[in-house]
Parts: sequence; structure tokens; C-alpha cells
Amino acid sequence: VPVYLDHAATTPMLPEAAEAMIPWLTERFGNPSGAHAVARRARRAVDEARDTVCSLLGVPPGGLVWTGGGTEADNLAVRGALGALEERDGPRRAVVVSAVEHRAVRDAAARSGAPVRTVGVDGDGVVDLASLTEALDASVAVVSVMAVNNEVGVVQPLEEIAGLVAARAPGAVLHTDAVQALRWLDLRQAVAGADLISVSGHKFGGPQGVGALGVRPGTPLRRVTEGGGQERDLRPGTHNVAGIVATAVAAAATDAARAGYLDAVRSRRDRLVGAVLDALPGSVLLGARADRVAGIATLCFEEVESEALLVLLDGAGVAASAGSACASGALQTSHVLAAMGVPERLAVGALRVSLAPSTTDDEVDEATEAIVDAVQRLRKA
Ligand SMILES: Cc1ncc(COP(=O)(O)O)c(C=O)c1O
Repeated sequence: VPVYLDHAATTPMLPEAAEAMIPWLTERFGNPSGAHAVARRARRAVDEARDTVCSLLGVPPGGLVWTGGGTEADNLAVRGALGALEERDGPRRAVVVSAVEHRAVRDAAARSGAPVRTVGVDGDGVVDLASLTEALDASVAVVSVMAVNNEVGVVQPLEEIAGLVAARAPGAVLHTDAVQALRWLDLRQAVAGADLISVSGHKFGGPQGVGALGVRPGTPLRRVTEGGGQERDLRPGTHNVAGIVATAVAAAATDAARAGYLDAVRSRRDRLVGAVLDALPGSVLLGARADRVAGIATLCFEEVESEALLVLLDGAGVAASAGSACASGALQTSHVLAAMGVPERLAVGALRVSLAPSTTDDEVDEATEAIVDAVQRLRKA
């Protein structure tokens, strides 16, 4: 079994979540949109799961739309809030996004037809609040700033951002992509200022292909796909009942365990980072001065290319990534690192390690040794 340090890409399912799926895949099948007892049982399960996740996000019961993953939740948030506001107030109002958003948000904004204002970040990846202030005015319909960056693990100052939005762009909808956040942060506090909150099951021990958009009461939102009217007509399509049930189980288990594992994960990660930095001159930790979640770190190595490094690590039984997992498998220099001003010669040698609560000391030791060895070999070659 490889040492798996790519939990920001996807996590194995928690056993209790996998177990909770099975009845809904077999004897308790049923389409929640129907009227008979089999359907009603499925609908009840979907609604109970909804309320479980609502309470973890800090939104009132019922305030959540199930989606087919984080990408879809992000698209629904950006395009659905913009669409609802345009319907109400007229077209072409501005969208404000940070420069380090996931493509699901960046491209949804870019393709929305509305003018997009992109707000930069500092050298540690934190949104520049002065630039944000400048970007905000009464014409802004939607603001989207992620809770935690997937490439460097940096936590954004959402409370201050929410304050600025309320003061300078009243009536604008604030969305946060919290896909990387739930495992590491209590979202009741961390995203308290956001109107729309995206999460994704497979980042915290739930199944792939199930996500949700938390919706605070009164937030303008409309559907972005056409269909049968499910989810109060905000996300048409037959529910993934088993996946939804398992996502709620994983979210609740994560929330209950979080306070108990954060320190241990953080200290394992910092031990790995410290040992690698000590052993390898010409290496840097990104976002070092920023608030970062416990399980993620990105290092850059001079004179090394990520792709070659990942191949050597894979051969040594260590699964890591170069920042974000790219659908094509081809690595491009990251827009996140570029926005942070990381020089190209360092950005091409980025390595993201992302741990889980289950990551052991032995795994950290093994990975440290493999990383140091691989970088040294590449530098000699
Ligand atoms: C910050 C962020 N947003 C959105 C997504 C997309 O989520 P999903 O894989 O569930 O579509 C990811 C996953 O890589 C992510 O890290």
C-alpha cells in the first residue's frame, strides 16, 4: 500500500460512511421524488441528511441543495446567484472572485457573461483586502472567495471579507468554496459570513460525486440546469440517495472527531516539512506566514520539475501531487502560485503533500526520506 499523501485530491471513505451507503443501494432503493412508501422513505433519508449537514454548516434546517459534487455546487452558486439577481435587477452586474479560486469558480464567473473583477493575493496567498475593497461597489452581484485554498491550504479571512462586502456592496451574494475546509475547520464559525457555501463529500471521507450548497435564508438563487424540479427546483435530477446519506454520515463523523485530531495532523505535517526543508537547501514552504489548515503543505524545490519528482515518488510508493489534480494528467504551472508571485523556476518544482487524520508517524518518516532522496537524485541528474 503506498504512503498516500494526496488527501486534498480525494480521501478514502470513512468505514461508517461506506457502510451507511449499502442499504440505500440495495433493499432501501427508491426515488425520493415519488409518492409511495418506498419513495417517501428515500425522501426522508435525503432530508435528514440535509439537516445534518445544515447544522454543521451553521445554516437553518432545509437550507441546503444537494449537488453532484463540489464543482457543481460552485457553478450553481456563482451562476445561480448571478442569474437570480439579474432576473430581479437587470443584466450584466459584476462578479468579484479571488485570483486563487478553483477553476469551477473562475470559469463559471468567466463564462457568466457578467464583467469579472479578479482580486489578487499577497505572497502567502491571502486575499488582498485593499484590492477587494476597491473591487466592491453597488454594481457587484456576486463575490466568491474560497474558505481554504486547495493548492497551498491557506485560510482566507472570510469574516473580514464578509464585513467589506456588506459595507461596500450591500445586497451582493457572498459565496465561499469550502470544499477543502470541512475536514479542518468548524464551518459554523469559519463560514459564518457567507451566504452560499460549497462542500464536497469526497474531501472528508464521503463518496465522490456528492456535494452540497449551503444556502442562508433569503439568498437569491436560481437553477442552472433544467429538469424535473427536484431540490425546490434549484437542482433538478434524481437524487444520489446512497451518496447523500453517506456524505452526511462522513460530515457528522468528521465534525465530531475534528478537535481531537487537528494538533496531531498539524504536528506530523510540520515534522515532514521541517525535515525536508532542513535536508534540502533551495527549498521553500509556500504560504508559510499565513493561517493554513492542518493537513496541507506545498513545497517548491529549485532545479526540480514536479512531474519528474512525482514519478520518482510514485516509484518509491509515495502518492502526492503537484498542487492540484489536473483532469488531463498534464501539469501546468499553477495560477495559484502565479498569483502568489512564486517565481517560475520555483513554481515548476511544486509538491503538495496532504495528510489525513489517519496518516501515521511511520508514513511521514517514509515520505520524508523518499522526498529528500528523489530531490537529491533529480538535482544530480
Ligand atoms: C477548492 C476546490 N473546489 C472545488 C473542487 C471540486 O470538487 P469536486 O471534485 O467534488 O467536483 C475541488 C476539488 O478538487 C477543490 O479542491
